[in-house]
Amino acid sequence: MMMQIFISKMIMPGLLALLLLLLSSLLSVRGGESYAAINCRKHTASLVDFGGVGDGKTSNTEAFRRAVANLSAHAADGGVQLVVPEGKWLTGSFNLTSHFTLYLEKDATILASQDESEWPQVAVLPSYGRGRDAPGGRFSSLIFGTNLTDVVITGNNGTIDGQGAYWWDKFKKEELNLTRPYLIEIMYSDQVQIAYLTLVNSPSWFVHPIYSSNVFVQGLTILAPVDSPNTDGIDPDSCTNVRIEDCYIVSGDDCIAIKSGWDQYGIKFGMPTKHMSIRRLTCISPDSATIALGSEMSGGIQDVRAETILAINTQSGVRIKTAPGRGGYVKDIFVKGMIMKTMKYVFWMTSTYNSHPDPGYDPKALPVIQGINYRDMVAENVTYSARLEGIEGDPFTGICISNVNISLTEKPKELQWNCTDIAGVTSNVTPTACDLLPEKKPAIDCPFPTDRLPIEDVEMKMCSVPHNYVR
Ligand SMILES: *[C@@H]1O[C@H](CO)[C@@H](O)[C@H](O)[C@H]1NC(C)=O
Ligand SMILES: *[C@@H]1O[C@H](CO)[C@@H](O)[C@H](O)[C@H]1NC(C)=O
Ligand SMILES: *[C@@H]1O[C@H](CO)[C@@H](O)[C@H](O)[C@H]1NC(C)=O
Ligand SMILES: *[C@@H]1O[C@H](CO)[C@@H](O)[C@H](O)[C@H]1NC(C)=O
Ligand SMILES: *[C@@H]1O[C@H](CO)[C@@H](O)[C@H](O)[C@H]1NC(C)=O
Ligand SMILES: *[C@@H]1O[C@H](CO)[C@@H](O)[C@H](O)[C@H]1NC(C)=O
Ligand SMILES: *[C@@H]1O[C@H](CO)[C@@H](O)[C@H](O)[C@H]1NC(C)=O
Ligand SMILES: *[C@@H]1O[C@H](CO)[C@@H](O)[C@H](O)[C@H]1NC(C)=O
Repeated sequence: MMMQIFISKMIMPGLLALLLLLLSSLLSVRGGESYAAINCRKHTASLVDFGGVGDGKTSNTEAFRRAVANLSAHAADGGVQLVVPEGKWLTGSFNLTSHFTLYLEKDATILASQDESEWPQVAVLPSYGRGRDAPGGRFSSLIFGTNLTDVVITGNNGTIDGQGAYWWDKFKKEELNLTRPYLIEIMYSDQVQIAYLTLVNSPSWFVHPIYSSNVFVQGLTILAPVDSPNTDGIDPDSCTNVRIEDCYIVSGDDCIAIKSGWDQYGIKFGMPTKHMSIRRLTCISPDSATIALGSEMSGGIQDVRAETILAINTQSGVRIKTAPGRGGYVKDIFVKGMIMKTMKYVFWMTSTYNSHPDPGYDPKALPVIQGINYRDMVAENVTYSARLEGIEGDPFTGICISNVNISLTEKPKELQWNCTDIAGVTSNVTPTACDLLPEKKPAIDCPFPTDRLPIEDVEMKMCSVPHNYVR
C-alpha cells in the first residue's frame, strides 16, 4: 500500500514532465519554445548578438559579461532572457543581473574554462571566515550573482559542464591557495530559480544559494564521479523559503547539504536556513549522505520538510553533522516517504565533525539538536540501521522514528542501533531500536506538518523563447 502510493507519487510527476516536454517540443516546431518559470521576460537576446562563438575553443567570457552588462538596462522594462544556443560555449566566471533569465537550449553546453586568469578572486564568505579549501580568498563561481532580485537560470535541459577534473587534481595535490569555484553561487538575493538543466563535473559544490530567500531548484540532473572531492549537489546556506523538487543527483559528496555558516563566523553572522521543502529527490552517493544537515550549521537550521526520496548505493539517508564549537541548532526536521537500497547507515548523527575554520572557535559553543522526525521508510541491504551519537552533557533530543522497515545485508554489524547521548521514541521500527529510543505504546506516527509552506504553493508561469531564437 505504502509502496503503491509512493510509486505513484514518483511516477506521476514524471508523466507530467513527459507531457510538458512533448507539448514544448510540439510548440517549438511552430512558435519557439516554452518553459515554466517564476517570471517571464519581455525582451530576448542571444549570446551570438554579443560576439559569442560556440566552437568549444573560443573564450566567451567577454561575450557573457558584455551581454549581461548590456541587457541589465532592460531590468526595469519587463526584464530580459539571454538565450545560449546549440553549441559549446567556453567561458570563465561571469555575473548575472536582476529580472534576468539565462536560458540554455537543449544542445547548448556552457563549458567552464580551465584558465585561472578567467576566474576572478572574490572575498571569503562572512559566515565562514575563510575559504573552505584554503584560508585565503575564493575563485568566483562560474555563474555568480549577488544582491539580485528575480533571477532565473534554466533551459530545455541544456548542460553546464564545470570541467572539474583540473580543479580536483590541483585540490588533491594541495596546489590551490584559493578555494575552488562553485558551479553556481547566488548571494544576498530574492526570487531565485535554477531549473531544468544538466549540471556536470563542478570543480566543487554545484549549486550554492547563500543569504537568499525564495529559492526554487527544480528538475536538475547533477552528475559527478562518485570519487570527485566535495562535489555536493545542492547546498542551501543561510536561506529562507527554499523549494527543491524533481532532482536526480549522482555525486562524490552529499546530494543535498543544508548549511548556515561555520563556527564562530556562522554564530556571529547568525543567519539560519529555514522553511525548506524537498520533494522527489533521487540520490546516488556511495561515500556521503542523501541529505546532510551541516556540518556548517552555526547559524541554525529549522523547519525542513522532505518527502518522496529515493537513495541508492548511498552511505546514509539523512545525516546530522555537527561538533562542539559549531553552536547553532538543528530543529524541527521532518522526513517521510523514503526508499533506500544498499546503505551503510539508514540514520546517522555525528557529533564529532571536528573541522574548524581556525583555532579561534569556542569549544563551549554547543549545538542544540531537537525535534528530528523520520517516518514511513523502507531500507534494504543495510549494514548499520543507526549510529546516533549526541554530545555528552548536550544530548540530541526529541527524536521520533516511526513505520520504518530495515532489512540487512548478508554481513550486518552486530550492534544495529548504536546510540549515545540521545533521547526520543520509536514506533513500528524493525529491527528494534536502542533503549534510548523506546517503543511507544500504543503505536504513533511521528509528526509531519499538515500546513504547507507558502513557497510550496507558488505557481510557475509559462514563458516562451521566440521561434527565431531556437533551432
Ligand atoms: C547594447 O546596448 C546599447 C545601448 O543600449 C545598444 O545600442 C546596443 O545595440 C546593445 N547591443 C549590443 C550587442 O551591444
Ligand atoms: C562580479 O561581482 C563581484 C561581486 O560584486 C565583483 O567583485 C566582480 O568584479 C564582478 N565581476 C564582473 C565580471 O563584473
Ligand atoms: C549586498 O547586500 C549585502 C546585505 O544587504 C550588503 O552588505 C552588501 O553591501 C551588498 N553588496 C553590494 C555589492 O551591493
Ligand atoms: C536531461 O539530460 C540528462 C542527461 O542527458 C538526462 O539524463 C535527463 O533524463 C534529461 N532530462 C529530461 C527531463 O529530459
Ligand atoms: C600559492 O602557493 C604556492 C606554494 O604552495 C606559492 O609558490 C605560490 O606563489 C602561491 N601563489 C599565489 C598566487 O599566492
Ligand atoms: C513495514 O512493514 C509492516 C509489516 O509488514 C507494514 O505494515 C508497513 O506498511 C511497512 N512499512 C513501510 C513503510 O512499508
Ligand atoms: C548489498 O550491499 C553490499 C555492500 O554492503 C553490496 O556489495 C551488494 O552488491 C549489495 N547487494 C545488492 C543486491 O544490491
Ligand atoms: C558506537 O558508536 C560510538 C560513537 O559513535 C563509537 O565510538 C563505537 O565504536 C560504536 N560501537 C560499535 C560497536 O560500532
